[in-house]
Amino acid sequence: MDSHQNKSADHSEKDRVVIFDTTLRDGEQCPGATMTYSEKLEVAELLDEMGVDIIEGGFPIASQGDFESVQEISRRAKNSVICGLARAQMPDIDRCAEAIKPAKRGRIHTFIGTSPLHRQYQMGIDQAEVLTRVQASVTRASGYTDDVEWSAMDATRTEPDFLCQCIETAIKAGATTINIPDTVGYATPDEFAGLIRMILERVPGADSVVFSTHCHNDLGLAVANSLSGVIAGARQVECAINGLGERAGNAALEEIVMAIKTRSDVMPFWTGIDSTMLTRASKLISRVTAFPVQYNKAIVGRNAFAHESGIHQDGILKNAQTFEIMTPESVGLKESSLVMGKHSGRHAFREKLKELGYELGDNAFEDAFVSFKALADRKKHVYDEDIEALVDQEIASAHDRIKVVALTVIAGTGGPQKATLTLDINGKQQTHESTGDGPVDATFRAIKALVPHEARLPLYQVSAVTEGTDAQAEVTVRLEADGKTVTGRGSDTDTMVASARAYVSALNKLLAREARRKPESMLAS
Ligand code: KIV
Ligand code: ZN
Repeated sequence: MDSHQNKSADHSEKDRVVIFDTTLRDGEQCPGATMTYSEKLEVAELLDEMGVDIIEGGFPIASQGDFESVQEISRRAKNSVICGLARAQMPDIDRCAEAIKPAKRGRIHTFIGTSPLHRQYQMGIDQAEVLTRVQASVTRASGYTDDVEWSAMDATRTEPDFLCQCIETAIKAGATTINIPDTVGYATPDEFAGLIRMILERVPGADSVVFSTHCHNDLGLAVANSLSGVIAGARQVECAINGLGERAGNAALEEIVMAIKTRSDVMPFWTGIDSTMLTRASKLISRVTAFPVQYNKAIVGRNAFAHESGIHQDGILKNAQTFEIMTPESVGLKESSLVMGKHSGRHAFREKLKELGYELGDNAFEDAFVSFKALADRKKHVYDEDIEALVDQEIASAHDRIKVVALTVIAGTGGPQKATLTLDINGKQQTHESTGDGPVDATFRAIKALVPHEARLPLYQVSAVTEGTDAQAEVTVRLEADGKTVTGRGSDTDTMVASARAYVSALNKLLAREARRKPESMLAS
């Protein structure tokens, strides 16, 4: 048995489940999960390395940014097929074809809503017109590549007879993968399996294509529905790291992979994913989206392999299998170790970064090392998690136009609470003093006075990176402007400094977006 992949000697190609990752497309559609161009490339590189079969890199017609990232991911990918999304419209398909052109292997994924609700309210067209558009879009895509995926958006709420007609049309027009999305996360596992079986039995030509699942998690059933689909005959699963995606998200890639690997006795399938990279992938996505991973999240949550009760700990020490159905090592989790202290040198720090999966250029390394030394001066025990929080912050803020230079806060019962803040704004230092309803409010008011903006603050969240009163605080701040949300993260042993950094990080993202839209805008001086 290969220790990383799920394939064993008695598994054949027909049992292979193709992993289609949509973190960069459906995942990025999740409010607040926007990634920058370089973050997308970093994510794609990791997905490619970990054995993802198909990477859906974006929706090329949606924006110039999406187009360019799909194009660059296509240039760089070594193993994965690179896919772009396109509506059933000719300009979408042409733009998508252009974006995936540099890929060794490229796929066009075209879709249309098939359910009565989508036909009537989204598009205002009848069944005949849907069939015409399916035929035309798949034919157009097939002119560019022989790898064409067609999706019936809202398939699970589509009339079965009409769904079969659409699929037959798509297959005849040249689709090689047929995706059956549970777009609104409405199906149950039995129902979804029944739908896949019905399609396989009824649609002429069904045996010549791969069927795919794309299940949303509105009822918490995305993984269960996807696996039911596989048991019923689907051989591609669309999923996203940490289950990122529209609303409640998509099926979580790490859960799909480990369920197939761990329960191969009842699900005799395999994937090409190196499962020891799952933890790294989860941390990367959490960092670039600034979405914290739920502590009790299956496979990659902080508590997924933690044993609290005495009975469990005793059992684990005697034989890990008493309370563990998979090993922490199989998902790439290493023992959290006490890493280094203030006497650790550059060499040890570089080795530690390598072990944690970071490759920094010389300048970034020097900056991170200086921050590490400063942290080690203030904090007795520096753990892997501390290093990760610190480096993530360095990477995230490397190109920021606004930086936190100094903050002094007066807090306590007396009031009014006061914050004196110095920011570096485009290379110039500026200071402001504000009072507020508590130290956080005073700090955020000072930021707003120095960088006037209209954004709303829908989320402010604090957690501790490790245990102990000297633990670093990790703060998440979400800002919303013009209907778009961005998320920033900051860490420091001082919660107020972490809060200021998180707010400024989100603000930098907003400004970067604004600058892309109107290059001469805010802070252009
Ligand atoms: O959920 C959905 O239906 C989609 C399609 C575009 C595949 O994301
Ligand atoms: Zn979706």
